[in-house]
Amino acid sequence: MSSSAKFLSTLGRFAGEVGTDLIKPSRKLGYLRRWMWLNYTWISRQPSIPSLAPAALIPGLKSMVVPVELRFGMWNVTPLELYYLACLARVANPRTFFEFGTYDGASTWQLAKTCPEAQVYTIDLPQNEGHFQVGSRFLGQPEASRIHSLRGDSTKFDYSPYAGKMDFIFIDGGHDYDVAASDTQSALKMASPDAVILWHDYLTFSGVKRAVDELSRTQPVVHIKGTEFALLRLGKSAQQLASGQGNQTQDRATWLIGESGG
Ligand SMILES: C[S@@+](CC[C@H](N)C(=O)[O-])C[C@H]1O[C@@H](n2cnc3c(N)ncnc32)[C@H](O)[C@@H]1O
Repeated sequence: MSSSAKFLSTLGRFAGEVGTDLIKPSRKLGYLRRWMWLNYTWISRQPSIPSLAPAALIPGLKSMVVPVELRFGMWNVTPLELYYLACLARVANPRTFFEFGTYDGASTWQLAKTCPEAQVYTIDLPQNEGHFQVGSRFLGQPEASRIHSLRGDSTKFDYSPYAGKMDFIFIDGGHDYDVAASDTQSALKMASPDAVILWHDYLTFSGVKRAVDELSRTQPVVHIKGTEFALLRLGKSAQQLASGQGNQTQDRATWLIGESGG
């Protein structure tokens, strides 16, 4: 059903309920609250930036096989998102990777496994919230020697040693607007000229969405359909992103989003 058909159908049901509830006013109020909430969620979950199919953004996705671990917890990206993240990393082949929000280290470890040459930096708060150990998934693993686990508030951290050096940045830390906007600015400072920047929770968290939507006024950020990811490949225009132009050479620096969609 299209979005407008869904809206009309919900409106129709609401009108019917209001009629029925004329004799039961307390139910009417409850229904109104629920209807408003449903529509707020529906509206807030629509991307305000171009939304493209994963296969249109990740060259070779349809024939790509990248192993990922299916074990995931409440705050991890979903297994499907972890798979797309790994595929993007496989194609982008970063030498340096920076993650905001280590949590148990599932996405950190995945990136370190997918890119065996990469140095992986990841930041989380100094104190975790008690129910998880920061980075527990990669502790003791062979990849741990390439993972640099930084601790601190990402909004107050000194990123100057990393300025212009990060090829792939994953933003999945604090979800309030202030933190998401600050992490976005820090990511732009750390990004190498053709870096990939990926945000998680673009649709679910209004703070993340606002920070990404603001950036989209000056940068061609896109949403990856079927996921909570927003993606930016620096140095590529919106037209290039949409048309798949720019794969002139084979090296990592010219990897471009764009193949036939699907
Ligand atoms: C959604 S989890 C990250 C999940 C992880 N990327 C994964 O999929 O495996 C968010 C993490 O960001 C951390 N975080 C929240 N606010 C932060 C801040 N201001 N600075 C650093 N880390 C923060 C939380 O402690 C939490 O571990």
